[in-house]
Amino acid sequence: MSSNPAPSGAPLRLEAVRKVYRSGDSEIVAVDHATLTVADGEIVALLGPSGSGKTTLLSIAGGLLTSTEGRVVVGGQDITDRSPRELTEFRRTTVGFVFQSVNLVPFLTAEENLLVVAELSGRSGMSRRDARQRAKELLDELGLGHRAGNLPSQLSGGERQRVAIGRALFNRPALVLFDEPTSALDTKIGEQVMELIQNEMRSRGTAAVIVTHDTRMTHYADRTVRIVDGVLSDDPVAAGHP
Ligand SMILES: Nc1ncnc2c1ncn2[C@@H]1O[C@H](COP(=O)(O)OP(=O)(O)OP(=O)(O)O)[C@@H](O)[C@H]1O
Ligand SMILES: [Mg+2]
Repeated sequence: MSSNPAPSGAPLRLEAVRKVYRSGDSEIVAVDHATLTVADGEIVALLGPSGSGKTTLLSIAGGLLTSTEGRVVVGGQDITDRSPRELTEFRRTTVGFVFQSVNLVPFLTAEENLLVVAELSGRSGMSRRDARQRAKELLDELGLGHRAGNLPSQLSGGERQRVAIGRALFNRPALVLFDEPTSALDTKIGEQVMELIQNEMRSRGTAAVIVTHDTRMTHYADRTVRIVDGVLSDDPVAAGHP
């Protein structure tokens, strides 16, 4: 149904990615020679302490930030040298984002927050009617059918996070990037949201990278990768145990 033919290649391939922030005379190496491949449908947890480079790495993977060195290939598209304009287009069509601070549009209803994606991306070849239909279906699946007309301020934290997940899935991306999706939620709701993310990714065969600093959340992933001071390493304990 997607108007974009599926490009070949893994959903995400980072090769020796390095990111240096410069402010004045000082330099901060936020990510250092990070190499990571996320396979089709794979859910990877990215675990690390505050300041370890998680958001920086996720932002580079999603084309929100460019790397200082290394290559970034998403679904077979090499985005390393793309211009800001090309990256904007890439983000609209190829990846989904869910941020910690949900950032829904406050004056739009739950349904309209999903439809805004369709409008931004020129509706991805969808008619207005199909876009509405898709928004309704997604909200139903996420257990929010009865909340479609509510503004974000009229939703609970967990419900808002579910709207954000629906918005990230709207364009059927091959890769969804989650930055601490549960950190603003209490443990029980956080686990429900993780379960929902896991189910949604599995049923669609969508790959995901989920940033967290909570080890309890890593059992929802196929694999855990640790990051400390910008350096990645596979987690030997969590690896390979679904
Ligand atoms: N725009 C920036 N300019 C300069 N330094 C930055 C910038 N953004 C992040 N940093 C620094 O880069 C390092 C990594 O930051 P990043 O936000 O990626 O960490 P994080 O792992 O996401 O942390 P948290 O868990 O607190 O969200 C930190 O030392 C941070 O201070
Ligand atoms: Mg962060």
